[in-house]
Amino acid sequence: MSEFRVKAISKLHAEFSVPGDKSMSHRAAILGALSNGVCTIRNFLPSEDCLNTLNAMRSLGASYDVLAELAGYGPTDLRIHGQSMKLTAPSAPIDCGNAGTGMRLLAGLLAGQAFHTELFGDASLSSRPMGRITVPLGQMGANIETRGKKPGCAPLFIHPAKLRAITYDMPVASAQVKSAVLLAGLFAEGKTTVIQPAETRDHTERMLTSFRVSTRRDGQAISIFGGQTPEACDFTVPGDISSAAFWLVAAAAIPGSRLLIKNVGLNPTRTAILKVLSRMGAHMTEIVHHSEGEPIGHIEIHGAHLTGTTLLIDEIPNLIDEIPVIAVAAALAKGRTIIRNAKELRVKETDRITTVVEGLRSMGADVEEFDDGMEINGGTPLHAAVIESSGDHRIAMAFAIAGLFAKGETIIKDTDCVNTSYPGFAHHLNAIRHERSDSADFTLPMISHA
Ligand code: S3P
Repeated sequence: MSEFRVKAISKLHAEFSVPGDKSMSHRAAILGALSNGVCTIRNFLPSEDCLNTLNAMRSLGASYDVLAELAGYGPTDLRIHGQSMKLTAPSAPIDCGNAGTGMRLLAGLLAGQAFHTELFGDASLSSRPMGRITVPLGQMGANIETRGKKPGCAPLFIHPAKLRAITYDMPVASAQVKSAVLLAGLFAEGKTTVIQPAETRDHTERMLTSFRVSTRRDGQAISIFGGQTPEACDFTVPGDISSAAFWLVAAAAIPGSRLLIKNVGLNPTRTAILKVLSRMGAHMTEIVHHSEGEPIGHIEIHGAHLTGTTLLIDEIPNLIDEIPVIAVAAALAKGRTIIRNAKELRVKETDRITTVVEGLRSMGADVEEFDDGMEINGGTPLHAAVIESSGDHRIAMAFAIAGLFAKGETIIKDTDCVNTSYPGFAHHLNAIRHERSDSADFTLPMISHA
């Protein structure tokens, strides 16, 4: 089992880009496979989560050719041969690995097919709630059994069904649920509408537009008409701001540092992390250089002495994946940071309220746990600790960042999981660690593409 060993750094001057966006890569694999022709996808994220979705689409009939790959991981540029909405029965159960997004989106896609499918995942995914998708999909006429050891959990047995359009008022602000219902709506007759209680990431809607599938937005209601076939197109996936977040926090918390992250996604439903770090005192500039479809640009950040902040209720869905590393920033900042209304963290890859609170406490931070979040009284110096990732990629990476500020050598255990979202994280972490303490600027090497 691999581990990270991390020591403190005192300077960070770097320019680099992070791998492709996970959310968009899942969606590009799905919509490319449904499309009416050949789609070239560039900067696809070759992480385990997204490769599982890509392989799922291949098992449903959509082949792909690899144009470029990240050695040791998988394709970054590929050509997908779309099936014009006509998927074929897979010959075996589909493995979704650790990916909640993969399983929930695929369930929406498969709910209205004329064949059976089984979706399964690892132990973590098999304990995450699937009722949030089986309920609306059931209202559409889907026949999905959750046969997990835990009620309402995977594996999912999806039986053939004919779907009808519904209007669904989502009880949780979840882009995965919204996307599952919209994808099912593509196979239902009539207009399917999802109403979200708060703004959630809108990659599905934007990507449907790129594939010339029309959707309608009216306030927080998003509608789709069934029977449309996505038109083949080419799509370049921007860098993942959720991966950039680790380095942004590292740079933000070192006064005098400068970091430029290039070609990263700047979709406004994902950028709350930038607002939070600005409120905490970091100096930030966003330069959008491409705003069609998904906004892409550079983020330049200069570090400062951070101060605590309160996360706003509407910001929570917009930065839910960044909360572990924001909690690290909070531990490094002076004063109190309040993270509440974030109960969703308890049903991520791990219970991220508990894993974050326990990890920070073991490094000496003053943290109070609540059912829906935590309060962190920052500014106590951190000391090294042995941190168990519990197989959660974002916990492993967030605590690697905490280790960059702790006295002694922090050891993060069980770090293979970072490959679910950030292949090459260890390579970037090494580069940052070895170029520390002197004043020279350096450019972090890109992970080489074969
Ligand atoms: C995602 C949505 C979020 C996020 C996940 C990716 C997506 O989950 O946590 O990592 O790609 O739609 P919820 O939509 O369940 O909040």
